[in-house]
Amino acid sequence: PDDFGVSGVSCYFPATFVSQAALEKAQGIAAGKYTIGLGQTEMAFCSDKEDSVSLALTVTQMLLDEYEIDPATVGYLGVASETLVDKSKSIKSALLPLFGHNTDISGVDVKHACYGGTQALFDGLGWLHRTYSIQHRLAIVVCTDIAVYADGPARCTGGAGAVALLLSPGAPLVFDNGVEAIDGHNAYDFFKPVGAHNCEYPIVAGKESVAAYLSSLSACYRLYKSKCKRYRGQDSVSLLDFDAACFHSPFTKLVRKAVATVVADDAREGGAVRGGEKMEEVVERLRSQEAPADASLLSAEALKASEPTWNELTSPNLEMNRRIGNLYTPSLYVQMIGYLARLEATREERQRRMLMYSYGSGSMASIFSFTLNETRQERLSRMMEVSRSIIGRLDERVERTPDEYATTMAQREAFYTRKVPSTPVSLTDAALYPLFPGSFHLSSIDDQYRRHYARV
Ligand code: ACO
Repeated sequence: PDDFGVSGVSCYFPATFVSQAALEKAQGIAAGKYTIGLGQTEMAFCSDKEDSVSLALTVTQMLLDEYEIDPATVGYLGVASETLVDKSKSIKSALLPLFGHNTDISGVDVKHACYGGTQALFDGLGWLHRTYSIQHRLAIVVCTDIAVYADGPARCTGGAGAVALLLSPGAPLVFDNGVEAIDGHNAYDFFKPVGAHNCEYPIVAGKESVAAYLSSLSACYRLYKSKCKRYRGQDSVSLLDFDAACFHSPFTKLVRKAVATVVADDAREGGAVRGGEKMEEVVERLRSQEAPADASLLSAEALKASEPTWNELTSPNLEMNRRIGNLYTPSLYVQMIGYLARLEATREERQRRMLMYSYGSGSMASIFSFTLNETRQERLSRMMEVSRSIIGRLDERVERTPDEYATTMAQREAFYTRKVPSTPVSLTDAALYPLFPGSFHLSSIDDQYRRHYARV
């Protein structure tokens, strides 16, 4: 088979959140900075009884249940995270008990900031290509992260959650082989050096990370288009060819700028831009502008010309990003859920395609794409149904005050350097720190530093 891709998707996020408007007020920040300036409405957070492993356990179990996957049929499990709880032992190993007697499962952890999930996806697809025609087994990719920052301008760009993807042939979202474009550099824009903070917080050069994200986006987009031309004979690829355009989202205002960047690139290459006649004048002005040397300096024309593209291809997929915050490795993949949740079930003549931009500080970036295979109706309907229920669950969370959020962050900091054996402080208050039914959580760390998990 050559139709390998995503045939199942699930997502878990914590049951508690804080409102960004409330955070602005509590922190004495000008009203609108987080909500309009960064485009975020809510931020998910979790207490010390959740970690990247418990999130991964929960989402993997959800995927197995929601798509009735027999654990014996899984042959690859790749896990991506930048929220390490151990410098050697993998998160993947902690997930193996979910697969019962099946110990013949390839794959380990992948770490590269927010990019690891994309590498795990590429690796899972590569494993399927290598083995499927002989073994007929499935692959699963899990992305799990808890984004937390020290007090300061980055703190409001936190978030937490996990996504699991089922990969197989006959997928409703078929990966477009051979055209993925990569842009990697040796950068220090966001990193978590051993010994720098005795807690989970990164060192972040905020402005530099934004510039690096946008500059790699331009490089990847140009390379992706040239590969489509060279290897697929597609002459003038532009955003007009896509039904959805998804971008790694630290905060959605950056995604708004990402859309302007790629639309400006299309215009400068003489390509058409969404918006029809109304947009002609502004696109003409854009065509006469050089690409800015600093990728974060976008012209008014680039923002204006990209409005219809933003409204149609990108903004509607971002609900989870706006209401959860930066999810790190799952951030790009929750937009796949956003897209599937709003997909019309009607079959269309034209091919519907999804453009994906993945970025991880340090840095690695890539653009790749999927084509929707609507003949896989039954599986596609299941993915749409699961996606809608995931988004519905956002409303079942409970809001916490900025003070309660700050106390929880202090609790996580203290837990990071606790003496063992220890139990999470939040276990003693289930009302203040609720979990969704069926969630796994950390129950203790024993005197040998081994972590133990339980399920509610
Ligand atoms: N009302 C409306 N908008 C406002 C207001 C207000 N009252 N005040 C400020 N703004 C706007 C600003 O004009 C700016 O918009 P612009 O970007 O269109 O110019 C925006 O809000 C942000 O304001 P800044 O002053 O630039 O914000 P600051 O420097 O304090 O912090 C930053 C932003 C750097 C993104 C910070 O949150 C951070 O470091 N985050 C973590 C790093 C990050 O997420 N990087 C992204 C890629 S790497 C990764 O994924 C981790």
